[in-house]
Amino acid sequence: MPHRSIGPAQWPSALTIRGELPVQTVTLLDPLRRALAALRADGPVALVPTMGALHEGHLTLVRAARQRAAHVVVSIFVNPRQFGPNEDLSRYPRQLAQDSALLEAEGVSLLWAPGVEVMYPAGYATAISVGGISEGLCGAARPGHFDGVATVVAKLFNQVQPDMALFGEKDWQQLAVIRGMARDLDLTAPAAAAIHGVATVREADGLALSSRNAFLTPQQRAQAACLPRAMDAALAALRGGAGRASTMQKLVADLLDGGFSSVDYAELRDAESLAPVQESGDNPARLFVAARIGTTRLIDNKPL
Ligand code: PAF
Repeated sequence: MPHRSIGPAQWPSALTIRGELPVQTVTLLDPLRRALAALRADGPVALVPTMGALHEGHLTLVRAARQRAAHVVVSIFVNPRQFGPNEDLSRYPRQLAQDSALLEAEGVSLLWAPGVEVMYPAGYATAISVGGISEGLCGAARPGHFDGVATVVAKLFNQVQPDMALFGEKDWQQLAVIRGMARDLDLTAPAAAAIHGVATVREADGLALSSRNAFLTPQQRAQAACLPRAMDAALAALRGGAGRASTMQKLVADLLDGGFSSVDYAELRDAESLAPVQESGDNPARLFVAARIGTTRLIDNKPL
């Protein structure tokens, strides 16, 4: 849809706007609701939830959202509830001014940037846990992670009540968890069917874009390209009739030889249910890998 901008003159009064940022930015719930009312009157609203440190992958989501909706709202919130005690919450990159400039250039209508005290005020006590699909893969390697994701995304959906929401397919399991949550809770804004996945954006050497790539040293960055390469080799072997168990073992060995320090998992799963795939299974399958290079954990997935 063509983008129509709502300038500050048309904004309802009493908005809390971070005036120094290029994109209209709200940090409190009441101003958010007033700003959204103005946008909604103008056409469908798409939400792109993020944790900031925006890269081309996020901007691809924004562009896909702009194709589908009159207005794009981006949220930036580094959600403490989806980080484990020994994970990278404190070092997760935070660059609101730079992110805001990128979003301005993409024609984003509104940036929702709540603080932790707005998202989880004193006394906050509710969590959402999506069974089944949250277990295994990243759910096994990062206990509680998907409860944190489902909880914050449910809150973002309620806060923004978008007509649709867009997420990257790099986090395939996350997308499945969010769709499951929307379906199970009968959400309507957005409905599960209006939660769209957008294809992973990759560097020239195949590495999937991720905010965590910024943690890699130049040497680790060069080694990281082994992840998509080893996955492609495994997929080619499987398509050529190689056994699944031996192919997964070789994939892990290739990653360790290529400079990865450990592999959390390398598994073939049903693309939709994420159930483990048997040798004889004929549903569409996907290869899922999570591996660590130094202290940085990278994930990727590709179709068989
Ligand atoms: O994918 C992310 O950036 C986060 O997990 C999300 C969906 C914004 C929830 O915090």
